[in-house]
Amino acid sequence: MIRLEPLTGHHDRNGFDCGVEALDVWLKQTALQHQGKGISRSFVAVPADESAVQSWAESGYPVQALSILGFYALTSAFVLTEDLPARQAKRYPRQIPVTRLGRLATRSDMQGQGLGRLLLADAVNRAHTAAQAVGIAGLFVDAKNEAAARFYQRYGFIPSTDQPLKLFLSLW
Ligand SMILES: CC(C)(COP(=O)(O)OP(=O)(O)OC[C@H]1O[C@@H](n2cnc3c(N)ncnc32)[C@H](O)[C@@H]1OP(=O)(O)O)[C@@H](O)C(=O)NCCC(=O)NCCS
Repeated sequence: MIRLEPLTGHHDRNGFDCGVEALDVWLKQTALQHQGKGISRSFVAVPADESAVQSWAESGYPVQALSILGFYALTSAFVLTEDLPARQAKRYPRQIPVTRLGRLATRSDMQGQGLGRLLLADAVNRAHTAAQAVGIAGLFVDAKNEAAARFYQRYGFIPSTDQPLKLFLSLW
């Protein structure tokens, strides 16, 4: 019912609303610019096909073929091991390469239906695939708030010892 694919200019970025304005604005104004410069890669969840569009519509969701149901963005980054959980930090030199999960959001009227979990699993898979070819210790995220941090913790991310909104998922 849902397809995950790279963001393009064809997707309806203006129709996306996750309830956090900064994330909506970033998707509308910045995501494609950064992608064009190779600074980040964004991936979107869209209806898989026309029958998915119809089925969403019948369930009361105003969805079009190019509607964005959710998205996330990945970048490369270096983090200092002092930003990692203490027991992870011991394994590494002072600075390590990671994939940063810069943004993750789902449409506000579809939250709580498993879409965030699907997007996060896709992000982890992509980071894992990239890590076969380029050195990446794990995924790192700066959660927006405590609720978002709890969401990531459900899926194995561990908060930094001193900064609980910074979370890390080791890939190895
Ligand atoms: C955070 C967000 C991406 C979660 O997406 P979602 O589609 O609602 O999540 P799911 O339906 O896949 O939920 C998966 C699980 O996480 C839990 N969960 C969802 N949001 C949560 C939250 N804020 N705090 C704690 N747990 C949460 C769900 O209860 C569910 O648990 P279950 O599998 O035991 O039922 C979404 O709420 C969102 O876009 N929020 C606004 C933007 C934002 O804050 N993004 C985070 C940026 S760092």
